[in-house]
Parts: sequence; structure tokens; C-alpha cells
Amino acid sequence: MLTRIKDLATTLAPRLIEIRRHIHSHPELSGQEYQTAAFVAGVLSSSGLHVLEGVGKTGVIGELQGTSNKDERLLAIRTDMDALPIQERTRLDFISRAEGIMHACGHDVHTTVGLGTAMVLSQMAEELPGRVRFLFQPAEEIAQGACWMVKDGAMEDVSAILGLHVFPSIPGGSIGVRYGALTAAADDLEIIIIGESGHGARPHEAVDAIWIAAQVITTLQQAISRTQNPLRPVVLSIGQINGGRAPNVIADQVRLLGTVRSLHPETRANLPNWIEKIVANVCNSYGAKYQVHYRRGVPSVQNDYELTQLLQVAAEEAWGSDRVQVLPEPSLGAEDFSVYLEHAPGSMFRLGVGFKDKVTNHPLHHPQFEVDESAIVTGVVTLAYTAYRFFLKKVGV
Ligand code: NI
Repeated sequence: MLTRIKDLATTLAPRLIEIRRHIHSHPELSGQEYQTAAFVAGVLSSSGLHVLEGVGKTGVIGELQGTSNKDERLLAIRTDMDALPIQERTRLDFISRAEGIMHACGHDVHTTVGLGTAMVLSQMAEELPGRVRFLFQPAEEIAQGACWMVKDGAMEDVSAILGLHVFPSIPGGSIGVRYGALTAAADDLEIIIIGESGHGARPHEAVDAIWIAAQVITTLQQAISRTQNPLRPVVLSIGQINGGRAPNVIADQVRLLGTVRSLHPETRANLPNWIEKIVANVCNSYGAKYQVHYRRGVPSVQNDYELTQLLQVAAEEAWGSDRVQVLPEPSLGAEDFSVYLEHAPGSMFRLGVGFKDKVTNHPLHHPQFEVDESAIVTGVVTLAYTAYRFFLKKVGV
């Protein structure tokens, strides 16, 4: 079966590279993936899949019913389709034709790998005992698309879900799997400190919101190191600060905006209270009022043990164990694949797209980000063979 999958993928490779380049040169921003979605739907229906469009606004679902002896389970495979507001600066001859928009996060590769896997599995439907549902998700970069698709029923009946993300620091042809936490929860934080305005020469008659904001920031950062479990990372970054009216006027209000990243669900659950207590203590000490708004974003991606093992074993059989890395560390980046994991167990792997002979591989979201396209076949074979083995084994029940 593995040889058959590899042969099918290799035969499809030129077409898949063509597809990837087409998507790359026509990138669309989050929530506006109209052309990409229409293109995806076209490829899926010509491969004989049952296609649903407009799932989660611009999302597409393709479903494949295996015809071999019945397995009631349904395996979902998720790829994302959106690009970023970045002006591409590569010298590729299929460079982005959309001004200021670029597939700098490799979602063009994800979409292509999803389509390739659908094409391969559709040609072996007689050997496939269960159902495979391909989710082509919009708006991953704004962490909304997974919610939109789930709301429209994309996870109904799903027994398990697989996903992938390209990774430039792993060479093309290799993949990385990770047991447990893969990415962090990412929440938004807004703190407003309300003091009292006054003359810059007479601070004792005012409540200086800027000075108190500085205390709040410093105290929060110090408190992480003294009051949070160091084995359960919390990263709090204030990325925006606004306040004050003039150099000689004491500011009456400061607004702080930041992001809070964490890996452990229990740690995350306590963060809003923990932050509010610190802000309250500092503000109360100096007579300021405050507001804390903590908005939950996406949870941490927690890969299921058995499904990760299934991916690892399938990939090792396909490529040899030297091309499969077990990643020792998670990332504190965020990924809305975690939203699907609230409905079914799953595992997301990292697809190596780095060039072996290049000294620097530009990171994700860089205007010169490029991928080793040989990774497309690696991704397709890994997913198709893992899907096949999923139905052989009673995993993820
Ligand atoms: Ni991405």
C-alpha cells in the first residue's frame, strides 16, 4: 500500500507543484479566500469528492467515502488557505500578483498537500474502509476560521483529526512530530490605568498614570518569575502603550495592550485572576483606578499520544527514522487547530520545507520566505499513509 501511495504521489508531483505555484501567486487575506476556495472546490469535485462550499464563510469541505469493509469512523484532515498582509520580496517567477499580500506562512503548501492527499486517497477508495473529510479552512492567521467551520458543523461525526504546518528549520523531505503541547494558548490583554491629571511640576497633587503603568508592567514581569511555576511557561508581552497629553502634564490615563501565552490549561485558567490581583495591588497602593480586560483567544494545541504515534510510525515506514524528528520543545506561537481538538483528538505535525544547501532559510512570515517544494510529496504521502493506517488500527476511538 505504501508503494502504491508513493507512486500515486510521485506521478501527481508536477501537477501539485503547478497547483502550489498558482495558489502562491494568487494569495488572499483571511476571510477573503474566494478564488482559492473556488479553485479548491473545483479540484476536489474533479477528483470525485463530495464537496460543500461556504462552510465557515469561505471554507470548503471535501468528503471521501471509502468503499472497502465498513469502518464507522471519520478521519478529518485540516489545511488552511489564507495569506498574510506582507509584500513579497522573493525572486520567484511565480511571485505574488496581489500587491501587499503573500503566502509567507506556507498555507499555499498546506492547501496543496490537502488537495494532493485527497487526490491520492480518491484513487484508492476501494481500499479505504472509512470516511475522510478534508477541511480547507479560511482565516487561520486571525485565529477565527476554525471557529467558523466548527460552528457550521465541520466537526460533526469526526473521530480524529490531523493537520500540518510547514517549518523552515526542518529540511525538506523530513517531518517533525510532537507529543503533547505543540503550540501555546494565546490570549489578549488590555489594562487601563486611570489616575488624575495635574501639572508636571506638582506630582504630589496628581495621580501619575504613566508612572503607575510602569510599575504595573515591571511588577507583572517580576511576578511571573516569582509566582508562576517555572516549568509551566507564561509569556506576557505588552506590545502597545498609549497615554498622556503633553510633556508637562501628568497623564490621567494609560492603556496597555498585550498578548499572554501559556502551555498548560490549568495555568491558563488562573491567569485572568492572577493579572487582575497584581494590577489591583499596584493601583490601590498609589490611588489609581483600573480596568483589566482579559480575552481568551485560541487554546494550546495538545497532540493526542496515540495519533501522534500513528503519524510517527507511518512517517518512519515511509521515509526512514532519520527523516522523522520527535520535537523536544513546543512553540509559544498560536494555531487555531486547537479549536478542532475541543471536539475530537488529533495531532498536528511539522512539515520540513528548509533547503538543505541554503545557509539561511528565512523564517515564517518573512517577505523572502521560500519552501523546498519536494516537501509537498512528503506531506501527501505522510498524510495518505497515516489515514490508511488509521483505519487499519483502532486508534483514536
Ligand atoms: Ni501558518
